[in-house]
Amino acid sequence: MIHKTPIAILISGRGSNMRALIESCARPDYPARIALVLSNNPDAPGLAVARAAGLATQAIDHRDYRRDRAAHERALDTALRAAGVEYVCLAGYMRLLTPFLTTAWAGRMLNIHPSLLPAYPGLHTHERALESGARIHGCTVHWVTEGMDEGPIIGQAAVPILADDTPDVLGARVLQQEHRLYPAALHRVLVPDAAPAATASDCLLSV
Ligand code: GRF
Repeated sequence: MIHKTPIAILISGRGSNMRALIESCARPDYPARIALVLSNNPDAPGLAVARAAGLATQAIDHRDYRRDRAAHERALDTALRAAGVEYVCLAGYMRLLTPFLTTAWAGRMLNIHPSLLPAYPGLHTHERALESGARIHGCTVHWVTEGMDEGPIIGQAAVPILADDTPDVLGARVLQQEHRLYPAALHRVLVPDAAPAATASDCLLSV
């Protein structure tokens, strides 16, 4: 039987990328299992989704730590270690991380970002892509390092920008690809020798 590496998923909101990872991890041949879904937001809708899937969840509310980011991150780190987690997937986790957590999990923490990095780090990526006049947009899974959205790229998926796109329409097209990219990129990290993920004609995916 395939070895399943224990992972955690960190969310702040709806958790659609988390859902894609849950679906992949449910497959017997996928090399990861979800040991914990962790959120800084007790009201994150994704927590209910994770619970309904029978997963262990925990909310560690950053507001309980006032402005002490380091103390909040120490609590996250303790929860991750207690759950036996080996890799951490940020999936719409909306807190900036300090060097404490990025160093503690260096080489073991991934993030998904809705642009073709290094273009458009930060927020409002779909608006910025449309304003730029670019013809191609997409998403990136990368290693988490101290600088925001700056770590080495693990994989990317590209989508066309169409003439009548709005940020929402473009964002939905990108999100569809995020849901393919994240499981493929995590697979590549855990099983580096595996065959590359197939590409589809509606997008270019490379991990
Ligand atoms: C995604 O667009 C992801 O790339 C970004 O935040 C969003 C999270 O969406 N980091 P969801 O919670 O996974 O649906």
